[in-house]
Amino acid sequence: MTTRTLRIAMNGITGRMGYRQHLVRSILPIRDAGGFTLDDGTTVQVEPILIGRNEAKIKELAELHGVEHWTTDLDGAINDPSVDIVFDASMTSLRAATLKKAMAAGKHIFTEKPTAETLAEAIELAQIAQETGVTAGVVHDKLYLPGLVKLRRLVDEGFFGRILSIRGEFGYWVFEGDVQEAQRPSWNYRAEDGGGMTTDMFCHWNYVLEGIIGTVKSVNATTVTHIPVRWDENGDEYKATADDAAYGIFELETPGGDQVVGQINSSWAVRVYRDELVEFQIDGTHGSAVAGLRKCVAQQRAHTPKPVWNPDLPVTEPFREQWLEVPANADLDNGFKAQWEEFLRDVVAGREHRFGLLSAARGVQLAELGLQSSAERRTIDIPAITL
Ligand SMILES: NC(=O)c1ccc[n+]([C@@H]2O[C@H](COP(=O)([O-])OP(=O)(O)OC[C@H]3O[C@@H](n4cnc5c(N)ncnc54)[C@H](O)[C@@H]3O)[C@@H](O)[C@H]2O)c1
Repeated sequence: MTTRTLRIAMNGITGRMGYRQHLVRSILPIRDAGGFTLDDGTTVQVEPILIGRNEAKIKELAELHGVEHWTTDLDGAINDPSVDIVFDASMTSLRAATLKKAMAAGKHIFTEKPTAETLAEAIELAQIAQETGVTAGVVHDKLYLPGLVKLRRLVDEGFFGRILSIRGEFGYWVFEGDVQEAQRPSWNYRAEDGGGMTTDMFCHWNYVLEGIIGTVKSVNATTVTHIPVRWDENGDEYKATADDAAYGIFELETPGGDQVVGQINSSWAVRVYRDELVEFQIDGTHGSAVAGLRKCVAQQRAHTPKPVWNPDLPVTEPFREQWLEVPANADLDNGFKAQWEEFLRDVVAGREHRFGLLSAARGVQLAELGLQSSAERRTIDIPAITL
């Protein structure tokens, strides 16, 4: 039995996403399980190399998790011939430069979203991946979530009949940071540092809409900065220059040519009266479903109640009880870990990953056009990207 060890240089692992989702919930569990096995019996093991700016912090994390290799030298790791994959979860504004260097050095890349701050740069990255032939993967975690896996299964089974619309509600209250500490990094609220709800979330919504419904044909968005002043990690007041909410309407087209209306509200200034922090509802002629991160409930046409509008009477139907939970019927692992494993299999097989830099560029495009739509107060058609 042979073992193939992939050395993964991991940048930005002191951050929220890099640490929790990618290191602790993905790479370390794969390592600690002894890797995974391919169909031909080969074991694929991973060997992380932690990269960070702060030596003390990175060393401490390496020791805490029994990781042998760490460095503060990003370029050195990128150019280390023994490194197979460069992973990036650092600040968005630093990403494109790191990815370009990594691909130029012949490394496979796996990266957080968004891949770049501008569409031109995101397309350039996709072109470099194509030219160099490296395997490039971009985090599309929402599509691996149990809730959305179940929702997609309902679409595949034709449960909805003709799909009419999809609506998404995303967000929660992010504290300003003065009295109670903010639960998200301050750069998220500064446009000059790559922050902003639209930039952050529309790249997710693009692949969610593509992955569940079909192509996104147009966008009409209103983006707002509801909370203009916040307090940073040091307790200092700063001006929130980025949008903290985006209200978007999207025209979608299914692979069968049906037109579907998409609508997603994203806000860091909303309080949750939902079951999960994000929820999507699809309505179709034969049924409807609501999916969160984990749970998905559905209602068939035959079980659809017939409400009658009468504000003088208390509500007559127990609406929430009229939905049936959709079972997982499979062991649905952490979404980030599931995508990592799929990506690593693609690297070993020398093939493309299904969620690469072109899909990511379409996400950056949707964010860019969403912001433009808001600034110009109009609907914008989305042109197809060709490399
Ligand atoms: N897939 C998802 O659901 C998801 C969710 C949140 C964030 N993200 C993406 O992940 C990336 C990281 O986001 P995060 O929320 O973990 O951010 P974070 O601020 O917690 O982490 C940022 C990381 O970048 C490092 N860094 C390197 N140079 C820096 C500099 N000059 N200034 C500040 N930090 C620097 C930090 O040390 C840290 O490790 C972003 O690109 C973000 O868009 C993805």
